[in-house]
Amino acid sequence: MRVFHRHSQQASKKELALEQTFIMVKPDGVQRGLVGEVISRLEAKGFTLVGLKLVQVSKELAEEHYDVHKERPFFSSLVQFICSSPVVAMVWQGEGVVASARTLIGATNPLTASPGTIRGDYGVSIGRNLIHGSDAIETAQKEIGLWFSDKELASWEPTMTPWLYE
Ligand code: RTP
Ligand code: MG
Repeated sequence: MRVFHRHSQQASKKELALEQTFIMVKPDGVQRGLVGEVISRLEAKGFTLVGLKLVQVSKELAEEHYDVHKERPFFSSLVQFICSSPVVAMVWQGEGVVASARTLIGATNPLTASPGTIRGDYGVSIGRNLIHGSDAIETAQKEIGLWFSDKELASWEPTMTPWLYE
């Protein structure tokens, strides 16, 4: 986890321990024109985008990403779906971003996901639930390493940081 010095021009400083998480707009989200909506919600919340790319996913990458589910009955159709059309892969940063992004995304089944969440507002089917978000800090680190090289990630501090964090 990177540690950023806040208000770096000022004498009294607190330190922010910033988490990073891996977010992917799945093929259905890209096809339905919801990339901007997803980015907009994460930006408006106050998280920072540090990596972004459109990816036509290979079978190998999809299988590795969902390796934890390889024994599940839906695994092969899930892998096929993730490879069926481009995805938008992103890394977002901020205090508590891993858990908070999962809250913004909503429950796995969009039919039971709360209104106001991305899946709750835009989906109707578990196999077309629009977006992926890492489920824990350790998973996030693994997924970021799988999808992005170090040089694809920007290290920057938005000028609005003092307006987001006390
Ligand atoms: P994700 O990993 O994609 O962010 O979703 P999640 O944590 O909310 O759910 P997870 O249990 O990790 O499942 C991964 C993806 O597999 C598909 N799925 N299908 N047909 C089924 O019963 C079923 N269960 C899961 C979903 O697309 C889910 O997002
Ligand atoms: Mg998951």
